Amino acid sequence: MNFKDLVLKTRSYRRFDESKKVDYGTLENLIDLARLSASGANRQPLKYLIFNEPAGCDKVFPFLAWAGYLTEWPGPDKGERPSAYIIILGDKTITDNFGVDQGIAAQSIMLGASEAGLGGCIIASIKRTELAESLNLPESYEILLILALGKPVENVVIEEIKENNVQYWRDEQKVHHVPKRSLKELILKL
Ligand SMILES: Cc1cc2nc3c(=O)[nH]c(=O)nc-3n(C[C@H](O)[C@H](O)[C@H](O)COP(=O)(O)O)c2cc1C
Repeated sequence: MNFKDLVLKTRSYRRFDESKKVDYGTLENLIDLARLSASGANRQPLKYLIFNEPAGCDKVFPFLAWAGYLTEWPGPDKGERPSAYIIILGDKTITDNFGVDQGIAAQSIMLGASEAGLGGCIIASIKRTELAESLNLPESYEILLILALGKPVENVVIEEIKENNVQYWRDEQKVHHVPKRSLKELILKL
């Protein structure tokens, strides 16, 4: 797959075939991509937690918020939930300023997941305090992002943006539509 196709395929997927497991080694390989990615001042302050068993995934799921614009949809039903999660943590013993490291790490992982035939969603809307408590997370770690991963069962298509409306939507066939701004709008000419 050429790189643009990989980027195109790397959409946010929020419905999965929960019966399809993601093995631990695959998740380790994805984290290795993050490990090899850029880091501000090369501090490398990120740490990772892997969940790929149903009991572990059940511990993470209740603390996540899904697809804010789909107000009628509370998130994936049992059977369509992610079968793995990677929690990206900031190690506060290294720094309190994680900059944009977690975004870079997240995109490396999501691109790698696409290449491996997986898909997922970057999630920042997290009940962080409650999740940290429930996981007995030591205070020296901050929960930055969660990557929900699995075998997607939804179609996601990119649309041209209309009337400046950035809200994604889902049609009757449950196809998920994502408006993107045009290149012309993004590249400024002064
Ligand atoms: C930093 C960041 C945080 C996000 N947080 C959430 C979230 O909490 N819940 C969710 O369902 N999607 C979340 N998303 C996914 C975005 O909604 C998604 O990227 C956007 O709708 C565009 O779709 P696309 O990823 O397919 O291009 C997040 C994405 C990013 C980059």
